[in-house]
Formats: sequence, C-alpha cells, structure tokens
Amino acid sequence: MRLTNKVALITGAASGMGESAARIFAQEGARVMLADILEEEGAAVAAAIKSSGGEAGFVALDVSKEEQWRSAIDETVAMFGRIDILVNNAGLSGAVTDRMDVAYFDQLMAVNARGNFLGMKYVIPAMKQSGGGSIVNMSSMSGIIGQEFVHMGYNGAKAAIRLMTKSAAVQFAKDGIRVNSVHPGLMPPMRTSVSAADPELREKIIESIPMRRAGTVEEAAYALLFLASDEASYITGTELVVDGGAVAV
Ligand SMILES: NC(=O)c1ccc[n+]([C@@H]2O[C@H](COP(=O)([O-])OP(=O)(O)OC[C@H]3O[C@@H](n4cnc5c(N)ncnc54)[C@H](O)[C@@H]3O)[C@@H](O)[C@H]2O)c1
Repeated sequence: MRLTNKVALITGAASGMGESAARIFAQEGARVMLADILEEEGAAVAAAIKSSGGEAGFVALDVSKEEQWRSAIDETVAMFGRIDILVNNAGLSGAVTDRMDVAYFDQLMAVNARGNFLGMKYVIPAMKQSGGGSIVNMSSMSGIIGQEFVHMGYNGAKAAIRLMTKSAAVQFAKDGIRVNSVHPGLMPPMRTSVSAADPELREKIIESIPMRRAGTVEEAAYALLFLASDEASYITGTELVVDGGAVAV
C-alpha cells in the first residue's frame, strides 16, 4: 500500500475529487480525516470508508475561518496522533453567471486563496513536530491560463495557490515538508458551478481538449496520491497538470 502509516487531512472531502481522494487514500493505508462545511455528507463518506475497513474521521471546517483551522488540526492530532499529509482541496467554482460580481471575487479569495494559505499555516507546525510531511494544494488549469467562461477571481485565486505552493516549498524544504500543486482541467461540475454544468458549454470545451473528454475524479485523486506519497520524495514546488492536454495546446 502506498500510504501505510500516514495520517492525511483532506479538505472539501464531502464530494468530488476530495471525496475520491479520501476513499483512495484510505484504501492505500492512510488514516484519513475528512473536513468540509457539509457535515452530513462528510460524515457519511467517513462512515462509508470505515464500513469498508478503512480508518477515517470527519471534522467540520470552513477553510476561510482561521479559528476553525486551529481546531481541525488539533482534532486530527488528537484522533490519529500526527499529520503527515494535507490535501488543501476545498473550493468554490469560478464558473458562475456574473463574472464581474465583486462580492463573489471576495468569496473566491477568502475560500480558495486564503483558505489554502491558512491550511498551510496551521498544518506546518504539526508536520514539523512529526519530522516532515507533504502538502498538496488543489489549484486548476485556471491557475495557469485565462479562460472565457470563468470569473477572473477564480483564476487569480488558483494562480495564488500555484505560487504560494512554490513559496512554501522553498521556505519549508529544510523542515522535510514538500509542497506541490495539482491542476485539473475539465472535471465533473463542482457543486457551485453554474456555467460549467451546462452540457452545451461542456461539449464546446471538450472540443478544445486534445483527449476530447473531461477527466474523472479518480484521475485527479491519483495525482494527489502520488504527490502525497513517499514516491514523490524528491519532488517539491512543482505543478502536476491533469487536463487531457488542455494547457499543452
Ligand atoms: N470540477 C472541476 O472542473 C475542477 C477543475 C479544476 C480544479 N478544481 C478544484 O478542485 C477542488 C475540488 O472541487 P470538486 O470539483 O471536487 O468540486 P465539489 O464542489 O464537488 O467539491 C468541493 C468541496 O469543497 C467544499 N467546500 C466549499 N467551500 C468550503 C469551505 N469554505 N470550507 C470547507 N469546505 C468547503 C464543498 O462543500 C465541497 O464538498 C476545488 O478546489 C476546485 O476549485 C475543480
């Protein structure tokens, strides 16, 4: 198994790619703490992991709230004794109707960018205590290129994640902490997606993807798994694009 003896905290784990990562990490031997604002759904995923023989817990966490990060880290350490992996995955979609909405810009920054930073701030001391760790930050192809149908606050927040990842990698390598980012392309629509859930628009986007299809949540989760695991022990500050070739065009 690829994550034997590891403890992983995964945000946004109640659905989508975070849920898939939680299930796969547990199958690979990790003890997984799932975190999300969706308490019922998150707890149900943790229960399903446990009933299929994995080790999992759930903690309610709004990643934009600093004090909640403090208690999520404490609860994870109290339950599992340490934290080796953080998957900073929770996020809001940029595929919304009003792409010039200022209040939504602020929300994207609060959840997608600030939430990601807070995760690193609070997990790093815990990782230092256990002698190192691996942080995998969920960015997007939207953190690399501009896109017609996406709120630019989403591109800005995902680009912030991309570069904060590199800063953290440089600053904490000496502590044995690796920090990398994953950049999915077109995936199943997020809960907060409006335009990206429109079948006509999805078809149009798919025509521009070299592999001519959307990705699956598992295809993104396996990229998270690789970077989280010791297989990536000499990899830090890098970005792994999972997009069927979309940004290679
Ligand atoms: N779906 C895509 O096409 C796509 C592509 C590239 C990147 N991403 C990124 O991947 C990540 C996961 O998205 P997904 O596709 O699985 O979507 P999703 O909507 O299914 O999952 C996102 C999860 O984050 C949670 N969440 C939202 N705000 C939160 C908050 N403030 N605190 C804690 N949890 C919160 C949601 O409840 C949800 O469970 C996001 O960061 C997203 O931006 C998605």
